[in-house]
This record gives sequence, structure tokens and C-alpha cells, in this order.
Amino acid sequence: MNLILLGPPGAGKGTQAKRLEEQHGIAQISTGDMLRAEVKSGSEIGLKAKAIMERGALVPDEVITAMLAARVSRPDCAKGFILDGFPRTAPQAEALDRMLTDKGLRLDHVIELKVDDAVLVERIAGRFTCANCGTGYHDSFKRPAKDGVCDSCGGTEFTRRADDKAETVAARLEAYHRQTAPLLPYYAAQGKLSAVDGMASMDEVGRQIGAILSGKA
Ligand code: AP5
Repeated sequence: MNLILLGPPGAGKGTQAKRLEEQHGIAQISTGDMLRAEVKSGSEIGLKAKAIMERGALVPDEVITAMLAARVSRPDCAKGFILDGFPRTAPQAEALDRMLTDKGLRLDHVIELKVDDAVLVERIAGRFTCANCGTGYHDSFKRPAKDGVCDSCGGTEFTRRADDKAETVAARLEAYHRQTAPLLPYYAAQGKLSAVDGMASMDEVGRQIGAILSGKA
């Protein structure tokens, strides 16, 4: 099963992609996580991407599509994948269609997470992750059971993303509406698009996605 989760920054794509990965044994592919790993390693791609990401703009299509093509060829994608943060532009969507055709694969569903912009800023500004294992938390919506200690690994150091400042979030939202939202009619025309209420609780969003995947929506 090959899926795209499509939605603005903070819509919950990463949260739901991780759940689907656990439930279905298919790989989460987050182009944002891949780029952050490149930045951390100080690679050539990372050096180019860092400044672009910190101002909330999109990394060039050719860089992202090359990264994605290499990633979907890895063995953990054999049962399928969940694209989280890709595609984000029309050229990326067209490149993905070509890539899938070349590999004899098909896209099963594109799921839009609908969330109002005002809610997104609060969600993103409150987000933090365990520096050791990457488990995600939120100041208001998902605190660790014991303050300052990661539920998953017991780590005590947490990090916040460099692009999660309010002014950068505004630029990321603008990029979403201008460059990524036009993909919704593209996938609707292919008969692949469904939408869920991303303002609902994480469990309810997961339930709505499950209903789409099982054909009961
Ligand atoms: P990326 O890492 O993809 O970030 P994003 O799309 O801005 O999305 P986020 O990761 O911020 O949010 P999310 O939707 O995953 O929400 P989450 O589950 O974390 O991209 C970063 C940058 O990389 C881009 O700006 C760009 O520069 C570059 N980039 C990446 N891909 C690219 C591409 N294809 N082309 C070009 N450039 C690219 O949830 C957010 C918070 O809300 C969490 O704290 C969570 O706990 C909470 N939450 C989630 N769901 C709910 C809920 N239902 N109710 C309450 N709280 C919730």
C-alpha cells in the first residue's frame, strides 16, 4: 500500500504516518526528516537546505526528487510507504507519477488532513522531540507522563526545530497554500483524494484514516 499524507505544516502528517507505519508495517518517508538528517551530518545537500528551511521556503525540486527516488528503492519500502511531506509542488507530483510507473507501482490513496491555519501555529510552537529517540511531544496536547523524561526511552534531553518559530511558520504556511494546496485538485482528478478532519483528536484522525484505507469511509 502506497499513500500520501497531504496537509499544511503541523497538520499531523508525521504523527499519523508513524501510527500507520506501526499498524501496517509500511515505511514512513518524511522528506523533512531526511533533510534535517542531511543538515545534521553537514553534507552538501544539508548545507544548501539549512538556510532555505530556516526561512520556511521549499528546497529545490531536483534535490528532493533525487533523494526520494533513492529512498523508495530501499528494502523497507517493499510492502509500501507513506509519503509525509512529499510531493509539495506540481513538478514533484509529476516526478512521483513517473517514478511509480517506472517501478511498476501505484499510488493507493492521497489523504488530506484539513486544519485551520490558526490552530497550526499553536501546534507547531508547542512541539518538541526527544533528542535521543525522536519521540514527539507537545506542551499542551502530549506531554511525557513524567515531566522531562521521555516515555519511550527514558531520555532527558529534548529539542525544538529551528523552523518552528512563529515568523517561519507563517512563511511555511504561505508556501503550503501557494505551492502545495494546488496538488489537491491534481489528485482529485486521479480519483485518489480523500479528506479527514485534522482538527479532531489524534485517535479520531487515525480512525478516519483507517476507515478510508479499509474502504469504509
Ligand atoms: P517537514 O518536516 O515536512 O515539515 P511540515 O510539512 O512543515 O510539517 P511538520 O513536520 O511541521 O508537521 P506535521 O504535519 O508532520 O505535524 P506533526 O505530526 O508533527 O518540512 C520542513 C521543511 O523541509 C519545509 O519547510 C521545507 O523547507 C523542507 N521540505 C520538506 N519536504 C520538502 C519537499 N518535498 N520539497 C521541498 N522542501 C521540502 O504535528 C504537529 C504537532 O501537533 C505535534 O506536536 C503533534 O503532537 C500535534 N498534533 C498532531 N495531531 C494532532 C491532533 N489531531 N490534535 C492535537 N495535536 C496534534
